[in-house]
Amino acid sequence: MSVSTSSSRTLKIGLVGFGPFGQFLAKTMIKQGHILQATSRSDHSQLCHHLGISFFREEREFIEADNDVILICTSILSLSQVLNNLPLHFLKRPTLIAEVLSVKEHPRNVLLQVVPEEMDLLCTHPMFGPESGKNGWQDLTFVYDKVRIRDEATCSSFLHIFQSEGCKMLEMSCEEHDKIAARSQFLTHTIGRTLSEMEIESTSMNTKGFETLVQLKENSVRDSFDLFSGLFIYNRFAKQELQNLELALEKVKQKLLQKMEEQSSIESKP
Ligand SMILES: NC(=O)c1ccc[n+]([C@@H]2O[C@H](COP(=O)([O-])OP(=O)(O)OC[C@H]3O[C@@H](n4cnc5c(N)ncnc54)[C@H](OP(=O)(O)O)[C@@H]3O)[C@@H](O)[C@H]2O)c1
Repeated sequence: MSVSTSSSRTLKIGLVGFGPFGQFLAKTMIKQGHILQATSRSDHSQLCHHLGISFFREEREFIEADNDVILICTSILSLSQVLNNLPLHFLKRPTLIAEVLSVKEHPRNVLLQVVPEEMDLLCTHPMFGPESGKNGWQDLTFVYDKVRIRDEATCSSFLHIFQSEGCKMLEMSCEEHDKIAARSQFLTHTIGRTLSEMEIESTSMNTKGFETLVQLKENSVRDSFDLFSGLFIYNRFAKQELQNLELALEKVKQKLLQKMEEQSSIESKP
């Protein structure tokens, strides 16, 4: 299987889902010398061939290809369907099943249901993507929850991929992640998508603040709508944050209207 060093070893990693984020992760893993294999709904065999990755159209062949780690990189919305179609009972030996979805309680629950008991489970969320991580991963946050780990060596070799790139490693429960992410990442995406609905564009007289908004809009629409809606549908804390945002906007509006009334009464005094 693997070449050993003191703290980490070369891993054979099987990616399930070779979309934008799977491809982004694969490039760094290959650079580090790991051996990659992939399977996905669409045919990515040409790109995989170009990157030196074995691409499997047959899920059973992929599962039997002796991976140390199977890394789930599929969309949040398709997770249940993808996992239910993956013949995990054909795994030949204990394997680390890890995932990178941007919500955490949902994949943890699904994995606990469908993954055979002898397989280890690691839930993770790299808090960056192809845009924010395009110049390297130094100081970017990597959240993880060791849901069911017995083979510490494989798990720490996998975590080392991110640690060695300079990521800030943050261990927390899936529940805590979702609470914080609803109030940070989901809020960010929602405001970005709202600005996109308003069709804001760069002007000839941008303030720095407005430039930040235009950037936020552009970054938000670069991610798929499946990803954004997954943040809402599969994070039980997100609905409350959407309500908080609506209430906050209404409060700001009321404050402005109240001030306008006060101002007009001042101006109408003789
Ligand atoms: N983009 C980011 O910055 C980022 C950061 C951290 C974590 N993540 C997580 O990484 C995962 C992948 O994200 P992404 O940016 O690549 O975009 P995405 O739109 O969330 O997911 C695209 C991936 O899902 C697969 N997929 C979509 N619908 C499917 C279906 N019905 N059946 C089977 N497979 C399906 C696609 O397969 P095909 O390509 O084969 O069609 C592709 O591999 C998501 O769970 C996301 O939350 C993303």
